[in-house]
Amino acid sequence: MRFNSVFISSFLLASVALTARPRSLRLNLVERPANDSSDGIEYGDNWAGAVWHQANGTFESVTGTVTVPDVWGPTNSSATVAVGIDGDTCPNFAMVQVGVKATVTSNGTNYQAWHSWSPADWVLVDIAIFARNVIKLTLTISDATSGFAIIENVSTGQSVRQQLQAGRSGYPLCQQNAEWLLEDFFLNYTQVPLSNFSMVTFTDAKAVGNDSRIYTPQGAIISDIKQDGQVLTSVSVNDSSVTINHV
Ligand SMILES: *[C@@H]1O[C@H](CO)[C@@H](O)[C@H](O)[C@H]1NC(C)=O
Ligand SMILES: *[C@@H]1O[C@H](CO)[C@@H](O)[C@H](O)[C@H]1NC(C)=O
Ligand SMILES: *[C@@H]1O[C@H](CO)[C@@H](O)[C@H](O)[C@H]1NC(C)=O
Ligand SMILES: *[C@@H]1O[C@H](CO)[C@@H](O)[C@H](O)[C@H]1NC(C)=O
Ligand SMILES: *[C@@H]1O[C@H](CO)[C@@H](O)[C@H](O)[C@H]1NC(C)=O
Ligand SMILES: *[C@@H]1O[C@H](CO)[C@@H](O)[C@H](O)[C@H]1NC(C)=O
Ligand SMILES: *[C@@H]1O[C@H](CO)[C@@H](O)[C@H](O)[C@H]1NC(C)=O
Ligand SMILES: *[C@@H]1O[C@H](CO)[C@@H](O)[C@H](O)[C@H]1NC(C)=O
Ligand SMILES: *[C@@H]1O[C@H](CO)[C@@H](O)[C@H](O)[C@H]1NC(C)=O
Repeated sequence: MRFNSVFISSFLLASVALTARPRSLRLNLVERPANDSSDGIEYGDNWAGAVWHQANGTFESVTGTVTVPDVWGPTNSSATVAVGIDGDTCPNFAMVQVGVKATVTSNGTNYQAWHSWSPADWVLVDIAIFARNVIKLTLTISDATSGFAIIENVSTGQSVRQQLQAGRSGYPLCQQNAEWLLEDFFLNYTQVPLSNFSMVTFTDAKAVGNDSRIYTPQGAIISDIKQDGQVLTSVSVNDSSVTINHV
């Protein structure tokens, strides 16, 4: 299974100002883990959740509503929730995502919304997010190199809409994969320790195909995080939800 590690770049350098251009780091990729799916689950070191594999040009949008998890663990450990398009089977490493990163600091947990168009740096989104906020994450693709992301506070109905552009450093999408994920990201080619996290459930999870077909998580491929031979997550899906637990 391909795991496109879009998070290697430094978020310290990422742009908070929406108009600023994110820094480009072209060599943002790490070796993909071996495909180890003997039990029908795919394992990788950085990605847990449900992912669809379809033909080129299939996915036009993906959405899910998620309660921002509590996280705990060593300082600097982190966990990220996101929805994405591509990143798994597209041969050129393209992937677009929108999500929320939770990092354990010496002062408590820091929550940060972001989006990214791999392999360009991620772009930080200026919206205050805290544990247990209910947010709706949506990506809509206009074509292989542009689209938009929406982060909606479900409690208030307020939302932030961000234009997405592959730009100079983001690769064109295949629109082959749609996914709902919990991720253990990379910073400067080093994987951040995965924090423990309260149960993550994406509800109202669906992706829309080019013929208006609705793809629910049911039937998508299940993926778990395995590091040093240890499986760290447990994923279940039904026709509207994806649930990811730390084990
Ligand atoms: C991984 O291996 C399984 C079983 O060998 C195979 O069915 C599946 O297509 C492979 N997946 C990828 C993404 O290569
Ligand atoms: C729409 O999706 C189908 C099935 O996934 C794919 O075969 C087809 O090429 C796509 N059409 C366009 C215009 O991209
Ligand atoms: C956490 O990360 C910061 C920034 O990279 C670093 O300065 C600090 O030493 C790290 N702390 C621990 C406990 O790893
Ligand atoms: C922790 O918070 C205190 C008080 O707000 C601040 O002075 C300090 O710089 C913070 N430390 C870190 C590592 O963020
Ligand atoms: C959502 O709105 C609630 C209620 O006003 C607020 O406490 C929370 O910080 C907001 N969260 C986000 C992500 O905007
Ligand atoms: C799918 O699209 C990508 C990007 O345009 C291209 O590199 C790849 O060869 C295509 N794959 C197939 C099977 O057509
Ligand atoms: C990442 O690496 C760059 C270049 O070596 C360095 O400037 C930056 O401080 C590093 N960021 C972190 C968070 O370690
Ligand atoms: C993570 O938290 C869960 C729930 O509290 C707990 O069952 C599990 O043992 C924890 N795992 C680790 C490695 O701390
Ligand atoms: C799907 O799972 C979610 C989360 O566990 C649950 O709330 C929902 O009721 C389930 N839906 C069905 C149709 O079973």
